[in-house]
Amino acid sequence: MSEGYRVAVVGATGQVGTLMLRLLREREFPAREVVPFASERSAGRTLEGAGVRGEDLVVRGLSEEAVRGFDLALFSAGGGTSGQWAPVFAREGAIVVDNSSRWRMNDDVPLVVSEVNPHALDSHRGIIANPNCSTMQMVVALAPLHREAGIERLVISTYQAVSGTGKAAVDELLDQSHALLHEQSIEPPGTYAHQIAFNALPHAGNFAEGDDHTDEERKLINETRKILEDPSIRVSATCVRVPVVNGHSEAVNMQTRDQLSPERAREILEAAPGVTVLDDPSSALYPLAIDAAGKDDVFVGRIRRDPGHERALDMWIVSDNLRKGAATNAVQLAELLDERGLIGSERVPRAASFA
Ligand SMILES: NC(=O)c1ccc[n+]([C@@H]2O[C@H](COP(=O)([O-])OP(=O)(O)OC[C@H]3O[C@@H](n4cnc5c(N)ncnc54)[C@H](OP(=O)(O)O)[C@@H]3O)[C@@H](O)[C@H]2O)c1
Repeated sequence: MSEGYRVAVVGATGQVGTLMLRLLREREFPAREVVPFASERSAGRTLEGAGVRGEDLVVRGLSEEAVRGFDLALFSAGGGTSGQWAPVFAREGAIVVDNSSRWRMNDDVPLVVSEVNPHALDSHRGIIANPNCSTMQMVVALAPLHREAGIERLVISTYQAVSGTGKAAVDELLDQSHALLHEQSIEPPGTYAHQIAFNALPHAGNFAEGDDHTDEERKLINETRKILEDPSIRVSATCVRVPVVNGHSEAVNMQTRDQLSPERAREILEAAPGVTVLDDPSSALYPLAIDAAGKDDVFVGRIRRDPGHERALDMWIVSDNLRKGAATNAVQLAELLDERGLIGSERVPRAASFA
């Protein structure tokens, strides 16, 4: 048997899956074979040059037989697919890194950001969760500030790109924009409740019955506390979908337990892994979604004292939601698992049950 791992990429034809395949290749992940999975609609399709050595890959459908014999499975195929198939991959000996929200708040599933809480990987029982994109980029910037001054409360407004909803949402924004610019009527909205082109929707995610927050807002609240390992942090979140193709922006008001000046916060962030500070507003220098697109870092700017609170700072945090918000972190977790010798079926502590 040749060197390297046998890796499954589930959701390989989607936005995140396509990028994960590319990152495995570009970052030279030690895979001897990568097998792409997607829905039955895509089974048999050839993904040209998508393998780790630039070879063509043929998409497979999921079946009990097809998922046997993997060391690692990277999932980005929605919560339903993860709920059904991640435990099967884990049972068959693979470590699963899952991009969906299905397993994130499960007590037996570590929720890990590579720069923030890599130690949490050690407690895995076969499934590891990749956080929600808006939470991910925010905690990369906030974790070093939390370590310095202790976060008490966050008030967050997001400006989220349509790529966060999937390929169909990107098509809908572009189709609506094209139609409106050409003075044509638009199709009734399919992905969102309202027209997204030239609009801002205070409705990113879905409202569960009886809840006045969207699930996206609940994810920001709950996942932030789990990743920062501090359930006492109070979080208020409003998640807004804006007509940006790629790159989430966030206005964050952070109240700390100890004093933290904007200068000290800037200094900490400049030294933080995975963070780039762009903060010279007088020269119109601050993070922008169009600049963050295609990059792996989290960009922070507009760092300033909240005039309404002596222990609060305001800042603007931007990142490519498909990269650090999803695919990059998933591949970074795979790299950490490899470095720590955690991949290999004989070393996977079997999950008691993932129901
Ligand atoms: N987009 C983001 O910013 C982001 C960030 C964090 C997490 N995520 C999560 O990542 C996942 C994928 O997001 P995306 O933006 O890549 O979506 P997408 O572009 O719509 O791709 C969805 C992928 O899932 C596959 N799939 C759908 N139903 C399936 C089934 N029954 N069995 C197997 N595969 C199936 C699709 O295959 P076909 O092509 O055959 O339909 C496709 O490969 C979601 O769980 C999302 O919540 C996304």
